[in-house]
Amino acid sequence: MAVARVGLVGAGGVAQRHARVLSQLPDAQVTGVTDVVPAAAESLASTYGTKVFPDVEALLSEGVDAVYVCVPPFAHGPAEQAVIAAGIPLFVEKPISLDHDIAVSLAKQIAESNVLTAVGHHWRYLAIVDKARTLLADRDVRLVTGAWLDKVPPVGWWPHRDRSGGPVVEQAAHVLDLARYLVGEVTQVSAVGSGTPPSVPGADIDGSTVATLRFAGGAIGTLAATCVLGWKERAGLEIYADGLALSVAEDKLTIRSGDDITTVDSDPESARVAVDAAFIRAVRGEEQDIRVPYAEALRTHELALAVAASAASGRSVDV
Ligand SMILES: NC(=O)c1ccc[n+]([C@@H]2O[C@H](COP(=O)([O-])OP(=O)(O)OC[C@H]3O[C@@H](n4cnc5c(N)ncnc54)[C@H](O)[C@@H]3O)[C@@H](O)[C@H]2O)c1
Repeated sequence: MAVARVGLVGAGGVAQRHARVLSQLPDAQVTGVTDVVPAAAESLASTYGTKVFPDVEALLSEGVDAVYVCVPPFAHGPAEQAVIAAGIPLFVEKPISLDHDIAVSLAKQIAESNVLTAVGHHWRYLAIVDKARTLLADRDVRLVTGAWLDKVPPVGWWPHRDRSGGPVVEQAAHVLDLARYLVGEVTQVSAVGSGTPPSVPGADIDGSTVATLRFAGGAIGTLAATCVLGWKERAGLEIYADGLALSVAEDKLTIRSGDDITTVDSDPESARVAVDAAFIRAVRGEEQDIRVPYAEALRTHELALAVAASAASGRSVDV
């Protein structure tokens, strides 16, 4: 394959980001885009010099080597089914679906067809996350505190529970995925939602959520999420092991052991490029460094859904 020809399903914010990154990679080319809003597809196509297709089937018939599905949480399912059925490598944005049954059914279809997949949990490609994993490799983690403290993103579907799944499923999932990657599986969650939505029209999601997490390895943790601010305050994870404290965010890792404090700066864009570059290398049959295939993202998604279910029911939920 000279250059990997990539099709995009969905032409919104994150699709534009992938189009920008892919168009800078020497071994990838954005070949076409489709969106249920044709004007969105046309806008992306004119910026990145690619073709607009009326639907996924037409995009696939162009003969693409890979497809990115960049639709909102409520819209997953049909596009992925068509791409997998065609045997085409699939990149899906998180969260992989709102509906657990759809995600499970897609995971089964992927396993049966052995199609290459990747999901956009790009934090796993941060060099500081590699460093944190190395530091934690021979230690027992005791406590984890995660947070995503932010605003309501400017997309109409976001503040609606039946469209986005709410802030934990939609946004804090990055932090939950990082917790799984650095600390291991969570077995039980207990969460509380504020019951008060953020002050944007029509919002029906919790403005704030807190959760407790019990990890299989013995650690306990918390997650705090809010979307009531007008800015992004902080997103990241603090991890405490015997004699070691780590603070991981997209832009910085702080390591403390006694009086010894080290700060390592990080460029968030590096991981956004790396996640696409790794997928394209795998599509081209080169190095295999996909850190979150679909089945792995399903586990993170199930954890986020468990937090949301616990907040809704008021009961603890086994994951
Ligand atoms: N990994 C990340 O860092 C990251 C960053 C931003 C967004 N995201 C995720 O990407 C997803 C999309 O977010 P966004 O900000 O691009 O949203 P958006 O609303 O800006 O764009 C979504 C686009 O999908 C289109 N669409 C909806 N249903 C469709 C369908 N069935 N077929 C084709 N197109 C369809 C919409 O018309 C819209 O143009 C969300 O799940 C979000 O969480 C991930």
